[in-house]
Amino acid sequence: MLTKRKRQILNYVTKYIKKNNYAPSLEEIKKHFGLSSISTVHQHIETLREKGYLKKIENQPRSIELNKKRGRSDLVNVPLLGTIAAGEPIEVFENSETIKVQKNLLSKSGEHFALKVQGESMIDEGIFDGSTVIIKKQPMVENGETAVALINRNEVTLKKIYRERNGFRLQPANPNIKPIFTKELVIQGKVISVIRSFEELKREVTIMQKRSKEQRQFINLPKDTEPLVIIGDVIEKLKILPDKSINCIVTSPPYWGQRDYGIEGQIGNEKSPEEYIKKILDIAKELKRVLVDDGAYFLNIGDKYIDKNLQMIPFRLAIEMQKIGWAIRNTLIWRKTNAMPSSIKDRFSNIYEPIFLFVKKPDNYLTPEYYFDLDSIRIPHKNNNEKEKSPRQRTLLVEESNQELELPLTLSIEEYEKWKDKINNKNRYNGKFKNTNKINLGASPGARMSVYGEFYSRQRKHKIDSNLELEIIHFIKKYRKNKGISSKKIDKIFGYKDTAGHWFRTDKGGRCLPKPEDWPKLKNILDIKDDRYDKIMIKEHYVLQTVKPHELGKNPGDVWDFATGKSQDSHFAIFPEELPKRTILSCCPENGIVLDPFAGSGTSLKVAKELNRRSIGIELQKDYLNIIRKRCGKIKVL
Ligand SMILES: C[S@@+](CC[C@H](N)C(=O)[O-])C[C@H]1O[C@@H](n2cnc3c(N)ncnc32)[C@H](O)[C@@H]1O
Repeated sequence: MLTKRKRQILNYVTKYIKKNNYAPSLEEIKKHFGLSSISTVHQHIETLREKGYLKKIENQPRSIELNKKRGRSDLVNVPLLGTIAAGEPIEVFENSETIKVQKNLLSKSGEHFALKVQGESMIDEGIFDGSTVIIKKQPMVENGETAVALINRNEVTLKKIYRERNGFRLQPANPNIKPIFTKELVIQGKVISVIRSFEELKREVTIMQKRSKEQRQFINLPKDTEPLVIIGDVIEKLKILPDKSINCIVTSPPYWGQRDYGIEGQIGNEKSPEEYIKKILDIAKELKRVLVDDGAYFLNIGDKYIDKNLQMIPFRLAIEMQKIGWAIRNTLIWRKTNAMPSSIKDRFSNIYEPIFLFVKKPDNYLTPEYYFDLDSIRIPHKNNNEKEKSPRQRTLLVEESNQELELPLTLSIEEYEKWKDKINNKNRYNGKFKNTNKINLGASPGARMSVYGEFYSRQRKHKIDSNLELEIIHFIKKYRKNKGISSKKIDKIFGYKDTAGHWFRTDKGGRCLPKPEDWPKLKNILDIKDDRYDKIMIKEHYVLQTVKPHELGKNPGDVWDFATGKSQDSHFAIFPEELPKRTILSCCPENGIVLDPFAGSGTSLKVAKELNRRSIGIELQKDYLNIIRKRCGKIKVL
């Protein structure tokens, strides 16, 4: 089975090859699907190849080719006339070698020959060092066409040909290489197809990544907590931020159709909500590039009525964001506790705005992983009583003496065996699940409790973090290799189906450790005499499945009650300081960098500084620098 995206890519490649007679470049595939990186495209192509949808032709210059499982492709012999420089011209040598080429890579009529390309002067045309080009012999080409030309009598080169006043310009398709000017040339033929091997595709990835980095002149990131303010248009200025340099983005762009900031290039006065959404999405693409993989993007954005019809701009935008590689972790409701009285008589007044918490969706099948420090934003319990005595914790164990005891959070196996009947006696549930006799281990603690009363689950006593998990996997992998036994065979001994394979995998999505009871048996099968992990793997205890309040306080939840910010200097709505404070504390580590791409009066920067974080703001209005300075103190300006 192919994933939806791989099927789409396969369809695209198929149609492309049918239309053009050659495969699309990775860059073209990336652009077409709005994918984040060339390496993502490369992974998709590799999988399609591994699954047999694409293939290489044996014993020839290899190419991406569709694997037409039925019937063999029509191949014809084409003379391979040697190597041609896509950089400096070199001499071409005639020889009698031929290569087999698919018929559909040739023109319907005419004579063809092939040349192997050396150099990188035509990479922007998808012709790489090592590619094979198919040339149709012809004495003339149109202006700008890519052709093989003979110059200086015996030198042959591959370039785009332009007629100039006094001769010809041979233009490379690589901005780093200069054109050649010549008075005379003889056209040998026109490039009609390019055959690229997978090795070249891989090289293409590297070259493109290197070039995109070289072409950009990135700024130096702030070294201390003095905010850096970049004046200019957000989309332009984001380009000068290095890849993966920002930990937390918190911002509020101008809302659509709301306010005139009186400056050209301002966002918010587009002709339609759709145009506005597209702009915010373009910005989000660039924000995704500058955000670290475990970073977070908080976006506060308002809505608008047209003809008494709420446009749902924030939510339409959020859905589009999911399509371009963002995952939505929260729709936070910012309830404005000081909302102005409203004169509206035919609907409810608007007293909230959404704030989305977006994180990056990984390209593979894994779920997003991002920095989130809940403890730093917990809301302290109102009193100690509340902290210590949660409803769950008050559940008591009835002792023989009729004395009631608080249930301990953990019990040893022996203690549990001794007490288990009494614990379960506590259940007074009489609801619709009362006759259910299977413990749904996957259900929430609350659900389990409603059916069974207090519930203890048997768990490994030692917490195994991912480093230790990997260490143990490498340990057993080594023994399995020495023993030369397959996972399938191990599964058979255990009577499992597709379980043991996961014990030897190291990828995060696929690995898991053997259960405590399986560990001794596995050691036996693999002849492991080393007992260093035994305690960690085998020791178990019972853990009360309870919802105990955290001693630092509770999760603030997704409705945030803040009064709107006030500023005498600016005529636009500013953040209440609590808002960036909560977002920065939760999603920006102490050594991280906060970015507000619509800095306005600089609330996010001020709060970041107070929280000892570095920060960058982008703002179109130069005049706001004074307000930002007033609020943040010393700033760097770019
Ligand atoms: C809603 S305000 C941000 C207020 C900010 N959260 C605060 O607390 O002060 C939006 C800001 O975006 C700026 N802006 C508008 N269009 C912009 C653009 N194309 N590039 C950069 N900034 C822009 C406006 O000048 C305005 O200061």
